[in-house]
Amino acid sequence: MTTSSTPQKATAAGAPSGDLPPYVLTELTHGMRVLSGVQPSGRPHLGNYLGAIRLFLDLQARNQSLIFVADLHAMTTVRDGAALRRDSLELALDYLALGMDPARTTLYRQSDLPVVTLLAWVLQCVTPAGDLLRCVSYKDKVDKGLAASAGLLCYPVLQAADILLQNAEVVPVGADQFQHIELARRTASRFNEAYGEAVFREPLALVSATPTVPGLDGQGKMSKSYGNTLPIFAERAQFKALVAGIPTDSLPISAPRDPGACNVFRMLSLLAQPEELAEIEATYRRGGVRHGLLKGRLVDLLVERFGPALERRQMLARRPDDVEDVLIAGAHRASQLARPTLERVFDLVGLHEGHLGPRPLPAVPVVPSAFSVRQGWGS
Ligand code: ADP
Ligand code: TRP
Repeated sequence: MTTSSTPQKATAAGAPSGDLPPYVLTELTHGMRVLSGVQPSGRPHLGNYLGAIRLFLDLQARNQSLIFVADLHAMTTVRDGAALRRDSLELALDYLALGMDPARTTLYRQSDLPVVTLLAWVLQCVTPAGDLLRCVSYKDKVDKGLAASAGLLCYPVLQAADILLQNAEVVPVGADQFQHIELARRTASRFNEAYGEAVFREPLALVSATPTVPGLDGQGKMSKSYGNTLPIFAERAQFKALVAGIPTDSLPISAPRDPGACNVFRMLSLLAQPEELAEIEATYRRGGVRHGLLKGRLVDLLVERFGPALERRQMLARRPDDVEDVLIAGAHRASQLARPTLERVFDLVGLHEGHLGPRPLPAVPVVPSAFSVRQGWGS
């Protein structure tokens, strides 16, 4: 069940503009199987947190959530194995530190569930090559100079396999991924039609209603590709130095200003409580803005919001083996969830079920309790 039973168009100010495709939800779901993958690339920034990570965290309370580190997808661009292995673990650390609870969310690393590549092959066999050649993300990446590898071309089919393997109902993603969700939907129906059975469901996308977070340099979007990011795991001094660099106007203090035109205000509006924000906004309109003070307040808000997560991250970073255990436990759970679908697929396409390995044992409580947000973080 969703909070709204039909897919909606985003209406919140600053939410994705224009008409959204009919398979895109804009409101949190309840009681659904939700899945998303994140490529391990670079440190998470405020845009990633407010636009994506926070949504995953909100979803885990009332849905059956699966989130995975998409290391196989990252291989289409990363050629440094040691870096990929390290960044995959770092990403898991980030999510755990920010409050992902492995007792509620199945957190796993894509390559720990290698059967996904087998399903991707099955799906490739029903996917017209023309559909993949037309994918915008493929064309963009090749235009930017990436080698046009078969892996890059088949990237969306692997993504479809991630989703369909788990029979996910809802896939939280950024707007740049809509075409991939559409392809997953088409792949599901193509397979079902080809084999005469409704094995796969067509997933819906879920997009965050958070406005795009502006870059530190005043550009419209904070993004790793623009090098204008505010990392969320930072000490106060680093926040201070980065916030100090946000450009502001040089009008006299007493001049009235349009708050929407000021990047410091836009950032404050993403973090401050409504009452405080209303006061700040009034100051902009009547004059009296001291950018230095507001920047100081922004730093305080960042430290308040992300300081505890930074501490938890530092604690978890001293326990990489435990983080590995969380990922392995997640992969076991994901493999159990995928089993009925895979058995059906193997049967239909004519593969031997023996290749799925022995049936898993009944669930064992493998998640170390210290990792449960509800039980505290241990020592
Ligand atoms: P980047 O542009 O820094 O490479 P990604 O493309 O990896 O970020 O985005 C990961 C997730 O974070 C996506 O869901 C995306 O929509 C979200 N996101 C990235 N930047 C922003 C931003 N500036 N504002 C809101 N959401 C963002
Ligand atoms: N392609 C997605 C991105 O770059 C990552 C991803 C891989 C994914 N598999 C997925 C997202 C499955 C959602 C569902 O953001």
